[in-house]
Amino acid sequence: VTPAAESPLAAQLSERAQRAGAAYAGPGAGHDVPQGDRPPIAFTGGLPDPGLLPAERLAEATADVLRTDGNDALQYGGAQGWAGLREWLAERWSAKDAVALTPSHFTLTNGSAGALANVCETFVDPTDIVGVEAFSFPGSVRAIRSFTPRIECLPLDDDGLDVDALEALLRDLERRGERMRLLYTIATFHNPTGSTLSVARRQRLIDLCTRHDVLIAEDDAYGELFFGDEPPPSLYSLAGGKGVVKLGSFSKIVAPGLRVGWSQAEPAVVDALVATRSDLGTSPLLIRVLSRFLAEGFEEHLAGLRHAYAGKCRSMLDALGEHCAGTATWNQPGGGFFVWVTLREHVTPDALADACPAEGVSFVGGHVFSSERIAGDGRRMAWGPGDSRFLRLAFSYVAGDTIPEGILRLGAVLSRAAQMPQSMAPLS
Ligand SMILES: Cc1ncc(COP(=O)(O)O)c(C=O)c1O
Repeated sequence: VTPAAESPLAAQLSERAQRAGAAYAGPGAGHDVPQGDRPPIAFTGGLPDPGLLPAERLAEATADVLRTDGNDALQYGGAQGWAGLREWLAERWSAKDAVALTPSHFTLTNGSAGALANVCETFVDPTDIVGVEAFSFPGSVRAIRSFTPRIECLPLDDDGLDVDALEALLRDLERRGERMRLLYTIATFHNPTGSTLSVARRQRLIDLCTRHDVLIAEDDAYGELFFGDEPPPSLYSLAGGKGVVKLGSFSKIVAPGLRVGWSQAEPAVVDALVATRSDLGTSPLLIRVLSRFLAEGFEEHLAGLRHAYAGKCRSMLDALGEHCAGTATWNQPGGGFFVWVTLREHVTPDALADACPAEGVSFVGGHVFSSERIAGDGRRMAWGPGDSRFLRLAFSYVAGDTIPEGILRLGAVLSRAAQMPQSMAPLS
C-alpha cells in the first residue's frame, strides 16, 4: 500500500510509485466492505477454487524435476524463459489460434500481470495514450497507470467493448494530431463484467487498431475456461498475429501461486519485450515443474475445471433467478469466474454497505472496477456515496454448496435496500 500523502516517505517516491497508488488491494479487492458478526459467504475473490488446485501432482512434479533436472532448474534461466515450456505453448496455440507459432513467439513472465507490465515498459511512454475498458481488472489499470500515460476509458456492454466509441475516440485523437499507443482489452469472459466481445466487434476492433496504428494488448486470462461452446477466435488469431500481444496465464487453469504467464507476439515484438526485462526472468524451477504437470493429463484437468466452474456458475444463476429477480438483472457468462449484476432502479446502492454484514454476504461493488476512478488521482477506493449500480459476484472461490445460501442472503440485502427511502443519507 502506498504511504499516505503526509508520510515522510511519500515525498521520496518516484512519480511512477505515486501514480501506482493503492487502487487495488489483492484479488477481489473486497476489503472495503465492512464485516459483521455473521461470517460472510464471500463472492468477493476472483480466485480459483482451492479444491481444484493440483497440489499433490505439483509436489510429485517438483520432486521429479529436482531429481532429474536439478542443475538447470536451480540455475539462472534467461529472460525469455525455458524453451521447453515455450515449445508446449507454441504447439497448443498454433492449433487453437490457427497461426503458425514457434517458441520465438513467446516469452514467459511472472503471471499475465508481469506480461502486461513488460508490455507497458516496452511500448508506453509517459506522455502516451492508452485505451482501457470503462470497467476492467483493477490490477491491470493500476499497472498501466503506474507508467503514467493518459488513460482513455471506453464503454462496454454485453457484447464487450463498444467499437463505435473506440472509432469515435480514435478519429477525435487523429483530428487533434494524437494517437492511442496501446489498447488493453479483456475480450473473452471479461473481468468484471463476464462479457465476451462478439466476432463482428473483434474484426472491427482489429481493423480500427490497424488503421490507427494502435498496439493491442489482449488479456486472455479466462479464455480456456468456457462452459459450453468455445469462445470466438482470439484477437491474435483474427489479426494473424500482427499488431497484437496476447497475454496468457496459468493462474486460472493450474495455480496462481506458480506466477507463470506469457506474452505471445511476433518474434520481433517478443525480442523487444525480452530486451527490457531486468529481473533475470521467471523461476526456471517453477517453469519446469509446470511443464511436467502439463505433459500428462492436462486436457482432463482442464475439462474438470470447466465442468466444476460451469456448475458453480449455473448454481449462482439459478439462485439469482429465485431470490433476486425483483431487485436486479444479471448477465449469463459463457465462461470465466464472474456474474455482473445490475441493480434495478428502485434499489438504493448506498444502503447495501450496511445490509451486507448484517446478512452475512459480501461481494465487490462495481465502482472498484471503474477504470476512470483508478486512472484518476483517488488514493483509496472506498465504499460510499455515488456508488455504482453494479455488483461483481465471483462464483469461483466460494464453496459450491454455499452459493444458494449466499444468494438467498444477497436477495434479502437487495430487498432491504429496495425498501430504503431514496432520500436517506448515504453511509460514508
Ligand atoms: C483479467 C485479469 N488479468 C490478469 C490477472 C492476473 O493474472 P496473473 O495471475 O496471471 O498475473 C487477473 C487476475 O485475477 C485477471 O482477472
